[in-house]
Parts: sequence; C-alpha cells; structure tokens
Amino acid sequence: MAIERIVTATEVPDEVEQDLEQTVRPRDFDNYIGQKRLKQNLKLAIDAAQKRGEPLDHILLYGPPGLGKTTMASVIANEMGAQIRITSGPAIERAGDLASLLTNLQDGDILFIDEVHRMHHSVEEVLYSAMEDFKLDIMLGKGPSAKSLRLDLPKFTLIGATTRTGSLAAPLRDRFGMIHRLEFYTPAEVAQIIERTASILHIGIHSEAAGQLAERARLTPRIANRLLRRVRDYADVNGDGIIDTVISKNALELLEVDELGLDPGDRMLLLAIIDNYNGGPVGVDTLAALTAEERSTIEDFYEPYLMQIGLLERTTRGRKVTPKAYKHLGKTAPA
Ligand SMILES: Nc1ncnc2c1ncn2[C@@H]1O[C@H](COP(=O)(O)OP(=O)(O)O)[C@@H](O)[C@H]1O
Ligand SMILES: [Mg+2]
Repeated sequence: MAIERIVTATEVPDEVEQDLEQTVRPRDFDNYIGQKRLKQNLKLAIDAAQKRGEPLDHILLYGPPGLGKTTMASVIANEMGAQIRITSGPAIERAGDLASLLTNLQDGDILFIDEVHRMHHSVEEVLYSAMEDFKLDIMLGKGPSAKSLRLDLPKFTLIGATTRTGSLAAPLRDRFGMIHRLEFYTPAEVAQIIERTASILHIGIHSEAAGQLAERARLTPRIANRLLRRVRDYADVNGDGIIDTVISKNALELLEVDELGLDPGDRMLLLAIIDNYNGGPVGVDTLAALTAEERSTIEDFYEPYLMQIGLLERTTRGRKVTPKAYKHLGKTAPA
C-alpha cells in the first residue's frame, strides 16, 4: 500500500519525530498515564527489590506498538535509580556483541532489549545463563583444544519488549520473572496524554478537541501524539494555531482518519475481506497478499486494534469481519 500512514504505530525513522518522542516521554510513574494494573505490579516489585537491596527480576513487556513499552522501561530504570542500556534484538549481531554489552554492565543496571523476539538464536543462548545465574559462558579457541570459561556477570535486570509473546522461544520466556501485557488506553486516558503533550510542546488545544482526537487515535499514545502534531500543523496554516473542534475535525478529514480512527489502510483491509471473501474467514497470509502488507504488520499493527474495537474477529479458520464493520463501512452484511 503506497499510502503514507498517519496512524501507523511503528516508530518512523524520522529524526524530528524521534526527538519529539524523547521530549514528551514520561520519566516517572506519575507522568505515565494509564496502565494502572501494570504500574501497581511494578511499584510493588520495585519497592520489594529496593527493600531487599536486590536488583529487579527480569521483566518482559509485550503489546502492540506505540503503547509505551520503551517508555516504561526507562520509567522503571528511573524509579529504581538505575542506569539503563538500550539495544534491540536485531542490533545484537553476534554472541560476542552481547558478551561485551553484558560485561560492561554494573550491578543493578538495566539492559533493555527491544524486539527481543528478533534476536539471533546464537545470541539468545548466551542470554540464558546470563539471565539465570549471572554467568557468561565463553569458548576460547576452536576444535579439540577449545576451552570453556565461565565469567561472573554483574547482577543486572533485563527488560525485554516484544509485540507478541508467541514468537518468543519458551526457554527465553521462562526466564522472565515478570511478564506483563500493555493494554490499549481508554479514550479518556488518551485525551489526558494529548493534553499533557500539548502543554509540553506549547500547543493550544480546547479540551473538546483533545477528546475528539483521542477518539481517533487508536487508543494508542504514539498515534495520539502524532495526530496532535499533524493537526497543529493544520491549525497553524488554516487558523491561529489553536486547535478547536472545527480545526481538528477538518484536519482529521484531510488526513482521512475516520470517527473510529481508521485510515484508508484499515478500510482497505476490511473491504478486502468483505469484497473478496464475503466477510471471511480468511487466512492472514492471504490478507497480507491482498493488501500488499507484511504478515507481521497485519498481526502486530492492524489486527489488535480492529479486534479491540470489535470490527474483526480471529477464528480458528482465519479472520472474520463483524456486522459492526459492515455497518461502519456502509455495507450490507450477508444474511
Ligand atoms: N502511559 C503513557 N503516558 C504518556 N505518554 C505515553 C505513555 N505511553 C507512551 N507514551 C508516549 O507514546 C510514545 C510511544 O511510546 P513507546 O514507549 O515508544 O511505545 P512502544 O515502545 O510500546 O512502541 C512515547 O513517545 C511516549 O511519549
Ligand atoms: Mg518501543
């Protein structure tokens, strides 16, 4: 799909956007809006670890892109008063790279591995004993004269982030003491996030307009922040820079984001199932082919939200469009 997606939740390699994400990223629990249960669990774990003077258990955070996994990792580090080292699964190319990362940590440090499900297998194996016993097994030399050496590692905490726990190898998953899913936010929480971001970036926005944007931000903070900036651009050009409901409505129309936060890509996906497969069920690979999207994009990005708002169902035989989706798209559902 050659559509520039305003509502994509994945990080875009845009420096301005990344700088802005840094600026508005909450740094402590108080500024991290929503995810109440997750915060309660983490606060408890942090208090207990601090009381015992021990590092935190390894933590796995999973959920769709843009819900605040990376942000939460640095919040945890901040609340622990710990240093954080940030890397990602695909960035660690060889076992030796991981070994040097680990040996450079200090007691209590946090190692954050984003996209932990995309780690190379040989790298992952090194992580097992590191996580379990804080030991690093390295091989010296090759062939019959090779010797293995066991090194002590600092007592670090691994925080892993992934969009799906399903794609994580069981031995790795089992080594996380805490596994937490990030939930979609409520529209009220998203509105709060929009108002917070607006105040940090000195954007004037009426609270009804914040509510309107929140309804269309896929219940996802990253998209909320992105919509806010695009609508601000519109307000600067077409008004006095202040975002009211008229400005936001017009801007969203221009961006082709509808009342449910769907963009042309979402609508195309749903229509593909309706028009070609009578509403489904249809396999995800077929959907990928039909929409020219990667299977993982469909699974990680499109589906979770469409299922959350009840437009799509996952059945054993594939994906099915719901009557609500027919109605939203102005189509007549088959009898
Ligand atoms: N709970 C939250 N409260 C306020 N802002 C948030 C929250 N979660 C995420 N954000 C904002 O959304 C953006 C994306 O969050 P991020 O942690 O990068 O998502 P993920 O790692 O899950 O893809 C961040 O720039 C941050 O400012
Ligand atoms: Mg992230």
